[in-house]
Amino acid sequence: MSAYNILLLGSGGRECTLAWKLSQSKLCKELFIAPGNAGTGQYGSNVNIPVNDFEDIKKMCLEDNIDILVVGPEDPLVNGIYDFFKADDALQHIIVCGPSLAGAQLEGSKAFSKKFMERHNIPTAAYREFTEENLEEGIEYIKGHTLPIVLKADGLAAGKGVVIAQSTDEALETFSSMIVDARFGDASKKVVIEEFLDGIELSVFVLTDGVNYVRLPEAKDYKRIGEGDTGPNTGGMGALSPVPFADDAFMRKVTERVIEPTIKGLQEENLTYQGFVFFGLIKVNGDPYVIEYNCRMGDPETEVVLPRLENDLVNMIVKMSEGKLNEVTPKYKKEAACTVMLVSAGYPDSYEKGKVMTGFDKVKDSMLLHAGTKLSEGNVVTSGGRVLAITSYGNDIHEALEQSYKNAELIEYEGKYYRKDLGYEFK
Ligand code: AMP
Ligand code: GLY
Repeated sequence: MSAYNILLLGSGGRECTLAWKLSQSKLCKELFIAPGNAGTGQYGSNVNIPVNDFEDIKKMCLEDNIDILVVGPEDPLVNGIYDFFKADDALQHIIVCGPSLAGAQLEGSKAFSKKFMERHNIPTAAYREFTEENLEEGIEYIKGHTLPIVLKADGLAAGKGVVIAQSTDEALETFSSMIVDARFGDASKKVVIEEFLDGIELSVFVLTDGVNYVRLPEAKDYKRIGEGDTGPNTGGMGALSPVPFADDAFMRKVTERVIEPTIKGLQEENLTYQGFVFFGLIKVNGDPYVIEYNCRMGDPETEVVLPRLENDLVNMIVKMSEGKLNEVTPKYKKEAACTVMLVSAGYPDSYEKGKVMTGFDKVKDSMLLHAGTKLSEGNVVTSGGRVLAITSYGNDIHEALEQSYKNAELIEYEGKYYRKDLGYEFK
């Protein structure tokens, strides 16, 4: 049995969890994380290379004989890292876990993903797309639209490109700020306007080899900063798995109406895709609709999805590269897993960094998955908005949450904040 040298790109809680999971495999020889954080260093070697510096990544891959590249965040995928590797004689033997640039358009362009769903009859909100060229038409469309109304910048906008307008005036103002004032730069030159769907959201994940796929445990994340789902959107304040309302009947609909047509659609359109697909779904009157696709795992969903997956992830990635994911039967742990995200005061707006963190040694029976942390003069210090994900298992989500909350109290740093109501809707 051969083992593989693996390079993982990214530096968040998702990557800390991927590093934890990959490093457990007998098939993992050496693990490198670029750039990583204070937590990923426990599972492999951090290398100080930014995720979009393809030339430096190439140099490192050749020097350290990398066999597998796992891409955590969407940016390098949408920038074409897969194509960069496959076009280079020295790199093309490396297994890349992540889609081609064309496949990554599922996340990189909202307009592309809406058209893709239309072509394959995948349920999603009704929509239209507009640019400067049909601005007037867009204005009339908004005036005649029911409220609330959803406006989305077409391109990547670091999770901030979606506005749910409650009034026609707000929608018109947002529309003009996106297209005319380039509020999200080039990303909002094109705007998707869609119908508001009223329901409850969940995240579903698969790993696909382009033909076959393995479904991972589903998860629910908490996007808003405030308790009771109030205040601005964040990258995610916590997650839980399994999702109480994702019963077998519902998941069957998800498989038949969403997952399978998506994988078949990628194949039919020759969109090269070997990697994770993240389906952002909403359940409306018992039926699933796609809110968005992402071409990567979710954060903080990964912090509960991978702890519940019993399969060897390196083996899955190797099978993926061979087009043999049909040989992998997913096995989930029976236990529930929850994660509570500790963040910096002020997040998701401006916040201070460099706060010394203590209490790690007091924590028992939870995993500490680092997000925005780094080592500085022998201390772990904060270096981002989302700082640390505390994941626990339990017989049910409430037990798991209770354990994470116990430990959340033991970690200390100036300005610590976390939501204390996760799972409230399932009590
Ligand atoms: P997205 O970046 O597309 O995931 O959108 C961010 C968030 O906006 C989603 O997680 C939903 O909470 C919300 N959202 C997006 N599209 C819709 C929609 N059509 N109806 C209701 N909520 C939406
Ligand atoms: N938790 C949502 C995301 O990763 O986009």
